[in-house]
Amino acid sequence: MVLEIKNGIYWVGVIDWEIRDFHGYGTPYGSTYNSYLIKDKKNVLIDTAKDYMFNELIYGISKLIDPKDLDYIVVNHVEKDHSGCVDKLVEISNATIITNEKGKEHLSLYYDTKDWDFVIVDTGDEISIGDRTLKFIRTPMLHWPDNMLTYCEEEKILFSNDAFGQHIASSERFDYEIGEGIFEHAKDYFANILMPYKMLIPDAIKAVKSLDIELICPSHGVIWREYINEIIEKYNDWATNKTKNKAVIVYDTMYNSTKKMAHAIAEGLMEKGVEVKIYRISETSLSRIMTEILDAKYVLIGSPTVNRNLYPEVGKFLAYMDCIRPLDKIGVAFGSYGWMECATEKIKNIFENLGFKIVDDECLTVRFAPKEEDLKKCCEFGKRLADIDL
Ligand SMILES: [Fe+2]
Ligand SMILES: [Fe+2]
Repeated sequence: MVLEIKNGIYWVGVIDWEIRDFHGYGTPYGSTYNSYLIKDKKNVLIDTAKDYMFNELIYGISKLIDPKDLDYIVVNHVEKDHSGCVDKLVEISNATIITNEKGKEHLSLYYDTKDWDFVIVDTGDEISIGDRTLKFIRTPMLHWPDNMLTYCEEEKILFSNDAFGQHIASSERFDYEIGEGIFEHAKDYFANILMPYKMLIPDAIKAVKSLDIELICPSHGVIWREYINEIIEKYNDWATNKTKNKAVIVYDTMYNSTKKMAHAIAEGLMEKGVEVKIYRISETSLSRIMTEILDAKYVLIGSPTVNRNLYPEVGKFLAYMDCIRPLDKIGVAFGSYGWMECATEKIKNIFENLGFKIVDDECLTVRFAPKEEDLKKCCEFGKRLADIDL
């Protein structure tokens, strides 16, 4: 489908209904790769799609123009979910690529670009495409070195690429058609794509706030029209680690000992009014857990010791968390062991790497299986943890 979102500006993106794993990020609702066509004196395509969706993309463009007549392709970001069709489109149209220096470098590493025409832009540069002008704002490391935003002043549209995206496949194209439920999708996306670089977000938000915006057109999910101020404020909260009185308990278990400890600590926290979420890693997507951690005050991770090491599922989760890098949490490591306790030290190492404040207690490691009194101690620990002020 194609949809005119403003006079002469069209959504020509593709909907990936079936995708359930996006480079390790669970996408239970699918995704879209949004591409936008501006028909002016020049025909401009903003971003493309994954290569396996080329036919769908070209089908949409062809409803509006002959693809041979594309003049420019703006590459806001070279990751292949957005640049995957650029090579084929250049072959058809000979369109000139508008991107930044890093974008050009990254394109040359993915494709044979020696015969491509480029216009290289930087923050503040403008290109007239007829009645409209495109302006560019670079946002390096949100989340690749090449990321940039494209702003059309006359139409008050910000083409934000990955920023403000959501992984959701839907027949709706605008935020108001989904309602406030869209924020949970945006949060999920933020937690798993942008969290590692959240310290860079306040400056990017400042740049976005200086623009007069009627539409934010991201390259995944729906277009923001009704909730523009709200989503910008939420980005600010998420980037500045505004937390709730909430604990996320993440564990895995061999013979339910670590599981029992997790539930006993949760009892204590809940008695003190802390919101608790518990996830067994092997039964939950890592990205879902990370979304819950985004606004949590406490992160508790439990693992049995297996042959002087972590339970493998917990190791997998820790590697993911270490790469997503949530910051400024209170961390607790716990777990059961047989003859040599090793798992909690490994968990605490990761907490230290991330700068978590670690809370420890001798009740947090138990040999073989926790008895009634051990579980009571875990519960009491949960209560004390709720009162801790670090
Ligand atoms: Fe990306
Ligand atoms: Fe993307």
